[in-house]
Amino acid sequence: MKIMNTILIPFFAVTFSICVNAQHKFTYDDFSTPQYCGTSCHTDFYAQWQQAMMSQAYTHHWDEIEYFDLAVPHAEKDEKVAEVKESCNGCHTPMALLVGDVPPPRPEMNSRANESVSCDVCHSITGFEGDTPYNFNYVIKPGKTKFSSRKGDVESPAHIIEVNDLHKSGDFCGICHNEMSPYGVWVKSTHLEWREGPYSEEGVQCQDCHMPKTEFRTASMGAVYKDARTHLFNGAHDPGKVKGTIELRIYPDIKEAEPGDAVKFTVTLFNQKTGHKFPTGSVEDRIVWLHVEATDAEGNVYHLPVDKKGFEGEEYTIASDVLAYQDMGIPKEIENFEGVQRDAVPYGNRIFRMPYFDPQGRMTIQQWYTASLGTDYRIGPRETKIETFTFNIPDNIAIGRLNINARLNYQKLVSSVAEFLNVPEEESEIILVNEQTTEIEIID
Ligand code: HEC
Ligand code: HEC
Ligand code: HEC
Ligand code: HEC
Repeated sequence: MKIMNTILIPFFAVTFSICVNAQHKFTYDDFSTPQYCGTSCHTDFYAQWQQAMMSQAYTHHWDEIEYFDLAVPHAEKDEKVAEVKESCNGCHTPMALLVGDVPPPRPEMNSRANESVSCDVCHSITGFEGDTPYNFNYVIKPGKTKFSSRKGDVESPAHIIEVNDLHKSGDFCGICHNEMSPYGVWVKSTHLEWREGPYSEEGVQCQDCHMPKTEFRTASMGAVYKDARTHLFNGAHDPGKVKGTIELRIYPDIKEAEPGDAVKFTVTLFNQKTGHKFPTGSVEDRIVWLHVEATDAEGNVYHLPVDKKGFEGEEYTIASDVLAYQDMGIPKEIENFEGVQRDAVPYGNRIFRMPYFDPQGRMTIQQWYTASLGTDYRIGPRETKIETFTFNIPDNIAIGRLNINARLNYQKLVSSVAEFLNVPEEESEIILVNEQTTEIEIID
């Protein structure tokens, strides 16, 4: 076995070493199925991966809708974005790109494209082209040799293991977690945000937070390791991961007030959990907003809009009653489409986001059609943002205790867009990131 494998390495290295520019050199048979890796040996990894978004990157409902209902029809109408019909798959189902399956069969057809980001995709990656990992610029060599971060004590009967330092680094993740649009705009920059932030400087990798170390058997014939890497890749689809990301504090400038007084409440938002900005990744879809409400002694509720700061582009960070995303009309073939609600959250609330604009300057969720970006008002790793809310106490307010509650909410997809595209409700479920309450006394 050993001897045969040694002979095979150079053979595969020569035959299957490709770069992204030389696609369609492979067949699906060049890659092992996750079922094969999982049922023959790596049972724990397989069970974890099946619950991770990696195993659903092609089949998940919102991915299917965005690819088949927006990206593919758009690519067929507009030469400038024609490439996305193929390139979405470079990250979402790399095998389909590598074998030239464009567009792949719909998920319901159960083709091998459904394997999405599979074991053999990640463990056949040997490097990336150029200096910056982005847009699936992996160098990939499927075959007898699997690339990973350690060799282990036991020889595998199924394959050779070659240690590849890239697998231990966040740069590996950047291959798919940085994306540039056909207009040359960074529309996904999780890895770049991390690289410029405090965690990479301290040597904390993506793997440390998304593949945490724990004790289990990594292969049925292998040893139990204390620092095996879980393959759950918890992220935005795990409310437990999102909760508590931001620490909230709210305090008043005076503890007692009379009707007619103005009280200023300050909210501090500290990003204590993410290694990149919050929100990150599919920033075009995500919305994070701060809702502040006062409740008087008789239970009357007052919604407090955020105090304006006056920076450029601030209008995109304050919820309002405007329409946006008109460019969805192109793939949907709706002439003069007026758009849908931009925010669909209570007016006057602060939104933490970075708006994406189409070539006509309209806000878009079609990241491939993004020609420019607006002001980046997201919360960086370990950054603290401060917002203030001035409450002019109304004359008819109840005397006694006034409770003021601040809530930071998160949605993976703006709900108006989800409704328009018939995306299942779970994608726009509201997740409470954090909340805090303070109080003042209303006196006569
Ligand atoms: C998104 C890419 C990705 C996918 C998909 C993936 N892995 Fe991994 N895997 C990694 C990385 C990265 C590491 C190394 C992490 C580290 O050590 O920092 C790793 C480590 C491993 C290891 C070495 C464990 C050890 O501690 O010695 C094994 C075995 C493994 N993966 C098997 C699998 C199997 C089986 C599947 C499919 C069920 C799979 N992987 C899917 C990226 C991936
Ligand atoms: C071959 C491309 C590829 C590589 C390499 C890759 N990812 Fe991903 N990753 C994806 C895709 C595609 C998705 C989106 C799944 C979906 O459709 O929601 C994803 C999803 C995720 C999610 C889940 C996000 C959510 O919304 O819940 C996390 C976390 C994640 N990746 C972390 C990592 C880390 C950490 C690494 C490096 C060890 C890595 N990825 C390497 C392609 C990749
Ligand atoms: C210090 C811990 C930490 C590090 C380091 C870290 N992350 Fe995260 N990441 C988080 C937390 C917490 C969340 C959940 C909140 C959120 O969605 O942003 C998250 C969310 C994500 C998501 C989901 C974003 C979305 O909206 O779909 C992806 C993808 C992701 N991380 C990838 C990465 C990659 C790739 C790296 C390295 C370049 C990385 N993370 C480094 C903690 C970390
Ligand atoms: C460079 C790699 C890359 C390319 C190219 C890419 N994606 Fe993604 N996509 C990702 C990653 C990684 C995630 C998941 C994590 C995140 O949100 O950052 C993601 C997330 C998504 C999501 C959100 C999933 C969710 O459940 O919220 C959708 C939908 C999506 N992609 C569709 C597409 C379409 C359609 C295209 C082509 C126009 C495309 N992607 C091109 C890497 C890529």
